[in-house]
Amino acid sequence: MLIGIPREPQTLVAATPDTVGKLIKLGYDVEVQSGAGDRADHPDSQYEAAGATVVGDDVWSTADIITTLDTPDAAQLAAMKPQAMLVSRLAPGRNDDLVADLAARNITALAMDTVPRISRAQAMDVLSSQANVGGYRAVIEAANAFGRLFTGQVTAAGKVPPATVYVIGTGVAGLAAIGTASSMGAIVKATDLRPETAEQVESMGAEFVAIPTAAEKSDDGYAKEMTDDQATAAAKLYAEQSAAADIVITTANIPGRTSPVLLTAADVAAMKPGSVIVDMAAANGGNCELTVAGEVTTTDNGVTIIGYTDLAGRLPAQSSQLYGQNVVNLFKLLTPAKDGTPVLDFDDEIVRGITVTHATASGTDILWPSPPVKVSAAPAPAAAPAQDAAASAPEEEKSSSGLWWKIVAGVLGVALVLASPLSVTTNYMILMLAVVVGFYVITAVTHSLHTPLMSETNAISGIILVGAVLQVGSSNVAIAVLAFVAIVIASINIFGGFAVTRRMLAMFQGGN
Ligand code: NAI
Repeated sequence: MLIGIPREPQTLVAATPDTVGKLIKLGYDVEVQSGAGDRADHPDSQYEAAGATVVGDDVWSTADIITTLDTPDAAQLAAMKPQAMLVSRLAPGRNDDLVADLAARNITALAMDTVPRISRAQAMDVLSSQANVGGYRAVIEAANAFGRLFTGQVTAAGKVPPATVYVIGTGVAGLAAIGTASSMGAIVKATDLRPETAEQVESMGAEFVAIPTAAEKSDDGYAKEMTDDQATAAAKLYAEQSAAADIVITTANIPGRTSPVLLTAADVAAMKPGSVIVDMAAANGGNCELTVAGEVTTTDNGVTIIGYTDLAGRLPAQSSQLYGQNVVNLFKLLTPAKDGTPVLDFDDEIVRGITVTHATASGTDILWPSPPVKVSAAPAPAAAPAQDAAASAPEEEKSSSGLWWKIVAGVLGVALVLASPLSVTTNYMILMLAVVVGFYVITAVTHSLHTPLMSETNAISGIILVGAVLQVGSSNVAIAVLAFVAIVIASINIFGGFAVTRRMLAMFQGGN
């Protein structure tokens, strides 16, 4: 079949010469509208070299499959062949008229922006690939508008404090913004309605500032609407954090809804002169009351509000390549025989999830909305109500035998303490206190630092080693044996710890 790549109204293009080559390997013929890749630095000659045919406006009427980023306009849809396939971003949840139009025109429409957020579909997730680039570019735009350095410096001429960045919404775009701002030296804080994102935020080097009233865990990877209590607590938090920040990047998004307004005019009025807001949700209504979509505005108190809706399009070569690769990955799924003929298998949750309309010779079925898909980030499912008694029995046995072991270990521990001389009992007390203090100290350290921390603190085993070396020559055989075992175990810990640290350092030293 023939795939057509039209020229888009924006800078991006749905296929690059690289991805055209990959579509051809799947058995498809490809035609590209002249000039389609110009703004992404891909002239027609590169597409021809990759095996595509360069055509004019007739791409719309000749192709069996059209692939775009932007939803085509009515004239373009009208030019498409009956039963042709459209692969594009369609936002079907907000475009009832478009869905009806596609059905009326007998077009099979696959919405690239409704790929379910499951691990298997990540390679086709255009929202993620574009939001990732968008989040990066949001920080670059903020840095450009911000009149100071991001990183703190101590110079002969005095100290420069680091910029403070506050990110609201820590999905794909928010995490990319956090990573970029952290790597530029800023101090980054972030908030999300979904508390389960805290760990990712911290692993990217930012502090997670939680909304005081707990939110429910998400079961589809997206946020739910806030309750009134949450909304009040969140509004207060956003106002406080924004007033303290130099740069605020908002990415809050709830699929199928207009973006929530998180920063009011009063919040912006309380921000410092010179601070910058990048409202990534501008295209969908905006997270800031004062955002003008597509524009940069400055308030009376000197706050710059950036409402660009084409952040990914400002890095057209890479964004086009990523989108094109998402499309190739979709066609790999649709073309198992690599024969250039797509097969829609509706038992596949990805195919079903993106199919908006399905055209056949006898008519077009509207398949939107698609059934919800649970993502891997979902909270653990509740236990099945009528569990098979035989299946649950081993579990119960396991947990009761675990309890018995704990009781036996506890009794033995108490017996050991009671049988020991009084001077040794004090040592047991110190050991118990050390365990409690150690537990709280270690669990307060961020997860990403656990491995280096553990590998280094294992050197504490050195103290055990010294004690064991002093005792190993004891005339009491039991003490000598215990000391020997302690020497072996502590040595493994010490040398193993240093070996792990060495391997981790080598990872950061790039091939040394
Ligand atoms: P996402 O759905 O992965 O992330 C949005 C995050 O916002 C979620 O983690 C959600 O829990 C959170 N959120 C929702 N309501 C919230 C609230 N009231 N308070 C705090 N957090 C809240 O979406 P993704 O892919 O990260 O995209 C974010 C936004 O950026 C979208 O609106 C997208 O359209 C936009 N975008 C804009 C671009 C531009 O050029 N301006 C480029 C790329 C993406």
